Amino acid sequence: MEIIIQASAEAASVVGARIVAKCVREKPGAVIGLATGGTPVALYRELVRMHREEGLDFSGVKTFNLDEYVGLGPAHPASYRHFMEEHLFAHVNVRRENIHIPDGLAADVPASCASYEEAIRAAGGIDVQLLGIGGDGHIGFNEPSSSLVSRTRIKTLTAQTRRDNARFFEAAEDVPFHVVTMGVGTIMEARQVLLLAFGAGKARAVREAVEGPLSAMVPASVLQMHGSAKVLLDEAAAAELSRSEYYRWVYDHKPVWQRF
Ligand code: PGA
Repeated sequence: MEIIIQASAEAASVVGARIVAKCVREKPGAVIGLATGGTPVALYRELVRMHREEGLDFSGVKTFNLDEYVGLGPAHPASYRHFMEEHLFAHVNVRRENIHIPDGLAADVPASCASYEEAIRAAGGIDVQLLGIGGDGHIGFNEPSSSLVSRTRIKTLTAQTRRDNARFFEAAEDVPFHVVTMGVGTIMEARQVLLLAFGAGKARAVREAVEGPLSAMVPASVLQMHGSAKVLLDEAAAAELSRSEYYRWVYDHKPVWQRF
């Protein structure tokens, strides 16, 4: 794992956007795995800026979102389809037919999950996957105790995650109990993974994921087994790491060719 600690969430988001942009420039047909929630908003803002000011071209890019609420359609303001339109898709030249988000309204959820997995395979697999982390250590919506080899499927949110996400809904009781999420195994097949975490509320989950034992009780800890995982943090999210001086040292001494 490569732990990158920046002075602010904004600075870490710019580093994350540069990594995604590098992938898009090197491979115009890149397949990008996208995340929602509060964390990736600034990264998307930077990608939109790069598109407008630097001509970053998304015309060949394919996207796959991590997850969606069961029961929410694209028009619902808290749906992740809606989120993605607002923060990225409406502002860049990604083609509609290249956008994939799990279907929260699927009549046959298992069949819809299987075809999502098939679509990822047919696209050639995910080149770079963006991730947030839940306060409970989840990635996607793979809550603690999720199988570390799981595939896209329905999951039931924990009470904590429903509370954490209530801010995106009119009323706390409106948060669905169920979601469709890429599995941990699906995420692990991405060629590169970028996990972003900002703020003191994420510090414990980050410590457990990065320095704790690998455990299904902290699904993000499985990234210790990924060959190319970067963890982008602000100071507050990094505050509980025991080896943060070393992570900074590594970053400050990167060979020129490895810099972002
Ligand atoms: P957040 O969610 O970005 O809204 O904090 C992260 C997550 O739950 O994975």
